[in-house]
Amino acid sequence: MTDSPPEGFDGAGTGAGSNPVDSIDWEGLRKQARDIMSRAYAPYSHFPVGAAALVDDGRVVVGCNVENAAYGVALCAECGLISALHASGGGKLTAFTCVDLRGNLLMPCGRCRQLLWENGGPDLLVDTARGVVPMSAVLPDAFGSEDLNR
Ligand code: THU
Repeated sequence: MTDSPPEGFDGAGTGAGSNPVDSIDWEGLRKQARDIMSRAYAPYSHFPVGAAALVDDGRVVVGCNVENAAYGVALCAECGLISALHASGGGKLTAFTCVDLRGNLLMPCGRCRQLLWENGGPDLLVDTARGVVPMSAVLPDAFGSEDLNR
């Protein structure tokens, strides 16, 4: 495995449209994340989160965080998103974004990185404050299903 992004990943020096990152409506995806963030149930942390992702068949799935009086069982926005993915027909995530109350981009927590890895793999494009990066850079040396089969 490599830590370098895939060929043509950052768009530098590539023609418009030749890069998978450029073909994604990131602003539209961020808006869907902001919209679903308004449905978050976060009375304990007061930290609502919204997430949105593109699926390989063109669908968009979203999720918001849902907290609990038993703090430790809070569901991250990504948990809802992954449930929505499977509940709406499954598929593979291709692009992901996550925002907080102010619309600032958020990095997924450790557990959610694992969820995203399972459902998007190393090439899932992740919207970060330092630009769009592949999941392989967000969760290097990931544990995955192939490790179970060795
Ligand atoms: N949270 C998410 O929804 N996603 C993340 O990746 C980070 C944390 C939520 C969980 C909790 O409801 C609140 O943010 C504060 O940690």
